[in-house]
Amino acid sequence: MNLDRKLVLAGLAALAASWFVRKRRSSGSVAVLPPGPKGLPLVGNVFQVPGKHMATYFRRLCEKYGGMVSLNMAGSTFILLGTMDLAKEVMEKRSTKFSDRPTLPIYRYIDPDQIYWAFFSGRTQFVGRKLTGGIMAGVRAGETEALQHFEALTTVNRILDNRGRGWFHEMERTSASAVLSAAFGLGCPTGEEPELKQIIRSLTELVHAVTPSTSIINMLPSLDLLPGPMPWRKWGAEFRRREDELFDKLGDHAKASGMNTWAASFANGDSKSGRDTRRLINIFSIAAIDTTTAQMQSFVLACLLHPSWIGRAQAQIDAVVGEDRMPTFQDRAQLPYVEAVVRETLRWRLPVRMGIPHQSTADDILEYKGQEYFIPKGSIVYAVSWAIEHDENCYENPEEFLPERFLEGQKLKSGYETSAFGFGRRVCPGVPFAERSMWINVAMILWAFDIHKSAHCSYGESDTEFKGEFTNPPLEFPAVFAPRSARREEKRDKSENGAA
Ligand code: HEM
Repeated sequence: MNLDRKLVLAGLAALAASWFVRKRRSSGSVAVLPPGPKGLPLVGNVFQVPGKHMATYFRRLCEKYGGMVSLNMAGSTFILLGTMDLAKEVMEKRSTKFSDRPTLPIYRYIDPDQIYWAFFSGRTQFVGRKLTGGIMAGVRAGETEALQHFEALTTVNRILDNRGRGWFHEMERTSASAVLSAAFGLGCPTGEEPELKQIIRSLTELVHAVTPSTSIINMLPSLDLLPGPMPWRKWGAEFRRREDELFDKLGDHAKASGMNTWAASFANGDSKSGRDTRRLINIFSIAAIDTTTAQMQSFVLACLLHPSWIGRAQAQIDAVVGEDRMPTFQDRAQLPYVEAVVRETLRWRLPVRMGIPHQSTADDILEYKGQEYFIPKGSIVYAVSWAIEHDENCYENPEEFLPERFLEGQKLKSGYETSAFGFGRRVCPGVPFAERSMWINVAMILWAFDIHKSAHCSYGESDTEFKGEFTNPPLEFPAVFAPRSARREEKRDKSENGAA
């Protein structure tokens, strides 16, 4: 029998087993599963879920079925939550039951010891979050603002020097360099640093591998019963070897720098095992880079496609900062419009459109619109931010880019909430760092440049213009960065570091 047929038969046998388990569970309760599309026998909805842009498919289902949806993915139940209230009810109020992570089969080969805490629960997640608490207290107190300011300043200088060429990859450089400086004391001012290139390359590989539909064993886990050197095992082992080597090198760099780095905090805070520390800081660093890059690239796309707000943002920056210096973190409280632009970018095109799924650890019943729904133990639960942030009941004209929706007159509206960073016990621990990076970059770019479309290029904002994987940056596009005045161009690198 050839390998393909063996794979399919092994997969179907295990699907049949999981289908019987599912039937018994759901028939034991009077409540029904949330509604959802009809699937095929055994495989359920597996073949309806697209390989790319899953979030858009999930959003459409949430809109069609009224907010909450269930899918049968070859025996495992997916629950989709498409409104803010539902996501908060499940992932925050019931966080004791809904804070586990499903293990994508491919993770077992990327990280057999389960240290990559973003993808697992248990001890390493506990340790990771504890260590992060301390680090982020420092970020909130302003400890990283000097280096974040420096990175944004470097970005403006590099875009000016290169006349806008390469701006798209510049966003990668600035996000990665800010994180590598804070984590390992390794600034990357040229973008040519081998560690930076390696980290960006491995991020691309990782994001591709953990997109649920891109690896065959993620979709048909039972295939993993097959013994031998399967392609996913070989790839996982090789990826892990390269990652460990890179992060060992970065760890050595952090030690040699003698700086107060995140790597040093992790090592001091969890000295039980050097290997654990290396992978804890590894996942923390990579969770930070791709997301922030995507966010900055989407911000530039918003400038090109929905430019009507830019004049108002620049008028506020000009009134507060003027032409003779660049914005600093000390201006933040006086620049609510910039804050609103950051919030609107996070809403308009989210970097992680369907969050990272949680998994339930006990059966539950949820009442919604007068009906009781059963959520079986082990369900894989997605808060579908792509639906939540475009919910017409919460946002007027949700497809438009309108920073004003977060303002009340000149002030920020109170009660801001976003699904972009997830929910409950697993909410993104990097929010203080992420929002500072975005704020200073947006403020400096709007101060320095008018951003235009390139002649003879077409632009769009539909899915075809985005990568459509687990993180969802726009595909590369050109943009013209015109200095707003000769005076600004002259002042740019004389700007003092304002984060002191
Ligand atoms: C625009 C930037 C960012 C976005 C949109 C973002 C979004 C997210 C989302 C949606 C989650 C999943 C939350 C959940 O499961 O409910 C997450 C988790 C995580 N993020 Fe971020 N993130 C960003 C930046 C960062 C930064 C700067 C760091 C670190 C400095 C970071 C570290 C992490 C880690 C370690 C996790 C896993 C947490 C856990 O599983 O307990 N992220 N992020």
